[in-house]
Order: sequence, then structure tokens, then C-alpha cells
Amino acid sequence: MKIELNNNKIFYKNGSSVQEIHPFWLRERANGEKYLDKKTQQRLFDPTSLNVEIAIKSARINNDLLEIDFNDGVNSKLNIEKIAEEFSKEDEVIYGIEKVKWNSSFTDFKKYKYSDELFETQEMYDLLLSFYKYGFVIIQDVPTEDNFLVKFANKVGSVRRTNFGEHFNVKSIPSPNDLAYTSLPLAPHTDNPYRNPVPCIQLLHCIINEVSGGLSTLVDGYTVTEDLKKENPEFYNILTKVKVKFKFIDKDVVLEHWAELIQLDENKKLKQVRFSPRLDFVPILEKSELDLYYKARKKLSAMYNSDKYRIEFKLEPRTEFDANEGSRFLQGCYLDFDSTEGKLRHLKRKFNL
Ligand SMILES: [Fe+2]
Repeated sequence: MKIELNNNKIFYKNGSSVQEIHPFWLRERANGEKYLDKKTQQRLFDPTSLNVEIAIKSARINNDLLEIDFNDGVNSKLNIEKIAEEFSKEDEVIYGIEKVKWNSSFTDFKKYKYSDELFETQEMYDLLLSFYKYGFVIIQDVPTEDNFLVKFANKVGSVRRTNFGEHFNVKSIPSPNDLAYTSLPLAPHTDNPYRNPVPCIQLLHCIINEVSGGLSTLVDGYTVTEDLKKENPEFYNILTKVKVKFKFIDKDVVLEHWAELIQLDENKKLKQVRFSPRLDFVPILEKSELDLYYKARKKLSAMYNSDKYRIEFKLEPRTEFDANEGSRFLQGCYLDFDSTEGKLRHLKRKFNL
């Protein structure tokens, strides 16, 4: 990456591509103390009030600074490295984290230990990084007081409240409004596909686990999706195209959202998976298309439920809890990526990583 000057024009050179940088783009980044608040890095002027015909009167490069005099009398010194960062467009802090595929052979994952000071430490940065790499993280020794989970979650990010409340309890209850609250065994699924947007991160806090068995299982949606794409591109394709209806009803709310089981982003890369075969409703398509869709969903389900992909472990509470509550009691809540990504960037900045 290089900045080049030619005839009061400024060019950004990256490999073989050369691009002129618009003078206005540079002008609205004027960073003298009259123009930029140092603490918040917010502008002290409104760029929409400037004349769009701004031009560069003169410019020079001094080491790592690009100094420009604009024709409206403003002088600005811009850090060349910062200009380059903006040209990379992507948020490298988050999108630079490479996702790691894993299957049932992944047994030696790190377990983090809770402490009251955890939230502002480099260990928390590692924990979040690990979460973004593998899609899950396990934290031991979390205090088991009722509703501690919400306090915990709000120190990592901000709890996403839903119609279930700030948190929900997972235990057997009479006449449940969701099959998660019965003793029916639960197959691998993703939570809340009927919400728009789907909550990003689920936290589950184990308070009692006295049942024999009582194992938790995890499957990596990313690994399964990539394998399906390789092994059966036709199935992969239809599952990335067909939007199905997910629906949840309760006495005072009807939640509904249409989305793909495998959702891609604008670069055709995996954005998220949804899988909850008790509450998905595919639209009426051509018979041949539905034929393919049902085969594809069946294959996907077989993969999610296969021993090949599943890891199993027993969540154990830190301390004994009032056993009258039930033989297995978890509390759950949701966090959005927005807040955990904010925390990750903050810790990266704090520890200069
Ligand atoms: Fe769930």
C-alpha cells in the first residue's frame, strides 16, 4: 500500500491497482482540534454543509503523514496507515478471526474459569476470540445464585430481552409453551429461528444437574454446512435458496420469520444456520423442487444428528443448589454480536493487541 501525489491529486496504490482518492473524502477526515473531538473521534463540523467541489491546493508526504491544504483554507495531517485501514473496508478485528471447523474428535477445548475480575482482563479477550473461532466457549465456576446469568451477560455485553423475559428457565414444567421445557429429548437445533433478527449468542447457566446422563451436546453448524457443500452441492444450493416460515405462538404473541436453513451473506459465505424441524414450514413449491428440498433437509438433519459431528459433555454447577427446584435446571439468556464485538474491540484496544 502506498500513497502517491501527482499534480495535487492523491492516489492510493495497492499492488497493481491505482485509485484516486476523492478530495472530499480526505477533507471530511480533517483532524485538527477544530475539526475533530480527540476523545470521541467524532466530527466537530457537519460535512454535508461543505461545498462538494472541494479541491486540494497542495499536498506533501512527511514520513507517515499526508499533509494537505484544501482550497477552503483547511490544513489537515492524515495518518497514512489509517487511510490504508479504511481501504481494507472489512472490520479486521472481527472478520479477521478465522473460524475453525471441528467435529466429534474435538475434545481438548480450553475451559475458562470464572472470577469476579474476568470481564476486563486479557483472559476475557481470549475467551471472546475463542468463542468467535469455535462458536462456543465453556466457563466453569460461575456462581449459581438465581439470575446470576443476567448479571454475567450484562458484563460481557447487553442482554437481548425477548418475550420470554431477560432470561428463561430450562426445566420440566407443567403445560409448557415450548417443547424445550418437557422431558422430551431435544435433538440439535438452533434457538428462536422465528425471530427477526435471531438472537446471536445463547448463554446457558447450569444450576442443577443431578440426573444420570444429563449431557449437553454441541454440533458445529459451520462444519456441517461446509461438508454438505462439498459432499452434496445440490442439497446445499436448495437449502441456501428456499426461505421457510418459522413460527412460534403463545397466548399473547405470534412470532413469524421467513429465512433459509443455510443463510449466506453478500459474499456468498455462510452467515448463519437455522435448524428447528419442529417449527419450520416450507412453502408450496414445484413438486420436483420440494422433492429435492425434503431430501436435502433430511440429509442435513442426519448430519446434525450424527455422532461424527457431535461433542458431548456434562455441565456441572459450581455449588449444590436447592434440590426442590428439580433435577436439572438451567437458566438461559441471549446476547447480540453487536455488544460482544464491541467488548472484543475494546479489550483489543485496552491491551494493545
Ligand atoms: Fe434451544
